[in-house]
Amino acid sequence: NFLTPAEQILKGKAVVITAGPTREAIDPVRYISNHSSGKMGFAIAEAAAKLGADVTLVAGPVNLATPNGVMRHDVESAVDMHAMVMSLAEHTDVFIACAAVADYRVAEQSDHKLKKSGDDSLTISLIQNPDIVASVAQLESNRPFVVGFAAETQNIEQYAIDKMNRKKLDMICANDVSISGQGFNSDQNALKVFYAGGSKDLPLNTKSELGDELMQIISTLLPSN
Ligand code: CTP
Ligand code: CA
Repeated sequence: NFLTPAEQILKGKAVVITAGPTREAIDPVRYISNHSSGKMGFAIAEAAAKLGADVTLVAGPVNLATPNGVMRHDVESAVDMHAMVMSLAEHTDVFIACAAVADYRVAEQSDHKLKKSGDDSLTISLIQNPDIVASVAQLESNRPFVVGFAAETQNIEQYAIDKMNRKKLDMICANDVSISGQGFNSDQNALKVFYAGGSKDLPLNTKSELGDELMQIISTLLPSN
């Protein structure tokens, strides 16, 4: 049976991918979130599974079907996503952080629905969420190959490389979210990929094609056993 080089490397490898937004509760009926659709992460999961990897999606609230052969854990908040990812990390060969994790959560969630009070304004205090991809990259034993995304609107290359270095990632995929019709909530995207010793431009394409291209690049960067 003939296997391509990417298939030979990825066959049986445990690939964990976060996808979609997170949802941070304010009270039992309200939350803070963002417009991430989860499509990029699901496309990468599909591409990795096609190459024979053992793929697990950790998905925030999204409206997408699970790709064939992919294991899926649904989570809501960043704290839940962090806990799920860390429970899988020790047995992960490749971790790809595609989720648009909310940077902050509500400091004090109300256990009852908030009522309007006499005031014209309401102040909600937020506290920073754990950085999931940085936590995985900091692991000292069984550290996977770690891939992050960077959503930027300016100085794309500089900010992305800074992010990769700061979080100690092996690779980062930069995403210009200032251009409409690509990235957030779109079927298409364009990426600039940076890693130790190189970079690749992936021009505007369907997220499905980009998923295939990314998994090809990742396969060339993995230790070959
Ligand atoms: N990320 C994460 N956990 C967080 C925040 C971000 O795992 N709490 C991951 C994202 O999945 C992505 C990468 O970190 O792979 C970069 O996300 P981004 O929002 O671009 O970067 P931040 O570090 O949050 O910086 P900022 O939003 O301030 O630019
Ligand atoms: Ca962020």
